Amino acid sequence: MSTVLEQIEQQIAKLSNKAVKKNTGNIRAIADGVAKLDGLSDVMYNEMVQFPGGAIGIALNLEEDEVGCVILGDVSQLKEGDEVQTTGRLLSVPVGKGLLGRVVDALGRPVDGKGPLDTKEFFPVEKIAPGIIVRKSVSQPVLTGIMAIDSMIPIGRGQRELIIGDRGTGKTTIAIDTIINQARINRQAQASGDKNFRPLYSIYVAIGQKNSNIARTIAALEAAGALEYTIIVAAPAADNPANQYLAPYSGAAMGEWFMENGMDALIVYDDLSKHAVAYRQISLVLKRPSGREAYPGDVFYLHSRLLERAARLDGKGSLTALPIIETLAGDVSAYIPTNVISITDGQIFLETDLFNQGIRPAVSVGLSVSRVGSSAQLKMTKQVAGKLKGELAQFRELAAFAQFGSDLDARTKAQLDRGSRIVELFKQPAGNPVSIELQAAVLWAMQNNYFDPIEVKKVMAAANHLKDFLSTRKTALIDTLRTKAAIDNALAADLKTACDEWKTTFTA
Ligand SMILES: Nc1ncnc2c1ncn2[C@@H]1O[C@H](COP(=O)(O)OP(=O)(O)O)[C@@H](O)[C@H]1O
Ligand SMILES: [Mg+2]
Repeated sequence: MSTVLEQIEQQIAKLSNKAVKKNTGNIRAIADGVAKLDGLSDVMYNEMVQFPGGAIGIALNLEEDEVGCVILGDVSQLKEGDEVQTTGRLLSVPVGKGLLGRVVDALGRPVDGKGPLDTKEFFPVEKIAPGIIVRKSVSQPVLTGIMAIDSMIPIGRGQRELIIGDRGTGKTTIAIDTIINQARINRQAQASGDKNFRPLYSIYVAIGQKNSNIARTIAALEAAGALEYTIIVAAPAADNPANQYLAPYSGAAMGEWFMENGMDALIVYDDLSKHAVAYRQISLVLKRPSGREAYPGDVFYLHSRLLERAARLDGKGSLTALPIIETLAGDVSAYIPTNVISITDGQIFLETDLFNQGIRPAVSVGLSVSRVGSSAQLKMTKQVAGKLKGELAQFRELAAFAQFGSDLDARTKAQLDRGSRIVELFKQPAGNPVSIELQAAVLWAMQNNYFDPIEVKKVMAAANHLKDFLSTRKTALIDTLRTKAAIDNALAADLKTACDEWKTTFTA
């Protein structure tokens, strides 16, 4: 008898009758993944609202007598008059190292069939970007492994560097190669037991792409052993515009976790043109007034608040952003390209003409720039690449000019010779990043005239031969180059000896 009483008392003690304040309303109208809601007087901007059947909406338009929201998930079961509840929570996504090696959707839910995520932490999708005081200037490199970029358009951790060009000019390839190169560097540092090494984790956000393209990217990363250092956020073309709009912010939240926890991360937004289109679609359905090219007035803010979240924080880590923009017929003066160019710290401009001439990666030297990265460039690269950009830009001008005349003076001819060899040297197949120390060695050889006697057509083969020779036969020299990251007299002498020896082994 007494035990029964005790049990009842315990049950009563456990009972809590906290009042839960909930705001409920109804769907007034629903179409195209967007719903107008009645009766939600207390809802916050960007708050998640709950529909019957598990679909989630985000409140985007707070008006006097209705709330406009985009719906994430299955809308087919929802109808006019359905009840909707506020949740009191801003939209957030899972973050942490447990996401590495995984493919998730815009809400951070795994879509790769590898089971639940191993993480408990959540970060809000929208966050105010770090202010001026907590930021630190860029001084550590992000090595892409692409010679033309590392030597002439260097990127630093915390920087925002735009990759821009027409369709099929190799934009995605540059981003993927950069991710692959990080995996290579991470693994090498792990093997050497370097205590000061700061790994760079990657987040690849695919927006509005075909599923087959995303699958190919994942396969390329997996084949290169880079997937384990990478999070993939996928909002494919078949996904509703709300997910495509959200995906970059979700990716940014995942990147911020690394930055806030003293680590470094790299985020690729592939691409923001499609992101803008998804946002335009949502805005038009929400009946927001449209402006230039039918984009809503806040499309600039859409991208600036996203890209401002990339930073290097004092005493913490960094988030580097590589947004991608697709142009039409090379037109960089269209609305979205000019917006993003003005928000970023520089751009890597890829040209269709160069790509079709076989100059790949098709980096336009004249139009590409990195405004902050040079302070992050390693000394050895500065030593061998300092003059390259000028030489190449001059070469392009001279080459265009020289087409019309035949008798050139000796100096012009020498410049053309040098330029055409540098162009060859910078050709690099996709998926083949080159370590920064090998880059420095090859550029040193170029600077010291080792390629001059070689026919222009054969320079690429010669450079590959030299790279092989150095990485297999001169490992000590290459190791020293990597650890010192600067070329002093002793190293220059060693490089000379090595290159002299190589010259005798290479027959063009
Ligand atoms: N450096 C390169 N060398 C050879 N082929 C390349 C190179 N970069 C890209 N490609 C090829 O060009 C095609 C388009 O590249 P992709 O990166 O998908 O372009 P984008 O993202 O600009 O549309 C792909 O088939 C890719 O393999
Ligand atoms: Mg692409």
